[in-house]
Amino acid sequence: MRPLIISYFLVAWSIATAAPNANVQNTCPPRLVSAINPFYMQVFNGTCFHFVVNDRKMYRDASIACRKDGGTLAMPKTETLNRYLSNQSLHYYGVVDELWIGLRDHEDDSTFIWADQEQMVWHHLANYQDHDNDWFGKLIEDCVALDPLDGFWYDSPCNNQLWSAALGSDLQKMYICQYSS
Ligand SMILES: *[C@@H]1O[C@H](CO)[C@@H](O)[C@H](O)[C@H]1NC(C)=O
Ligand SMILES: *[C@@H]1O[C@H](CO)[C@@H](O)[C@H](O)[C@H]1NC(C)=O
Repeated sequence: MRPLIISYFLVAWSIATAAPNANVQNTCPPRLVSAINPFYMQVFNGTCFHFVVNDRKMYRDASIACRKDGGTLAMPKTETLNRYLSNQSLHYYGVVDELWIGLRDHEDDSTFIWADQEQMVWHHLANYQDHDNDWFGKLIEDCVALDPLDGFWYDSPCNNQLWSAALGSDLQKMYICQYSS
């Protein structure tokens, strides 16, 4: 019975996602809509999100890729949006690895800033308390990735391969772009 139930859900799902596609057409950058399978784009609260789940890049390159169409890496500044992005990554796209979001720490004082230069207010960093005492945190720039399994944010070196190897973190990650209309 299980396969039947699953295919029932898949049908229900594709019906449910038919409507948002019109939204995607109207909200997402036209070049993206014509170039990318709309399955990977979603509109939430009037903002277009592109889930880049079949490519991995370093933070800087991911950020440049989003900017190409006038966007930024996604900025989940509210708990609602953060929950939405992690739920969609995990349950809709089946992603269990971290995805870059548009947040990094400022080189001088280790405060976090969003890709639009706004100061971080609400946050979901898993290790925020440790950050100021984190020896690595002071030495290297941290960029932030969302873990869809728990919805928390984890920092990783932005672009230093050596530190990355030392810390055992993979700098090539999937990412989510955001396009405000
Ligand atoms: C929805 O968009 C409005 C206007 O941009 C914003 O003020 C609000 O915080 C957003 N809500 C969520 C859940 O992100
Ligand atoms: C999580 O994502 C799945 C797949 O898109 C969706 O069916 C479900 O309603 C979402 N749950 C929440 C709480 O948003």
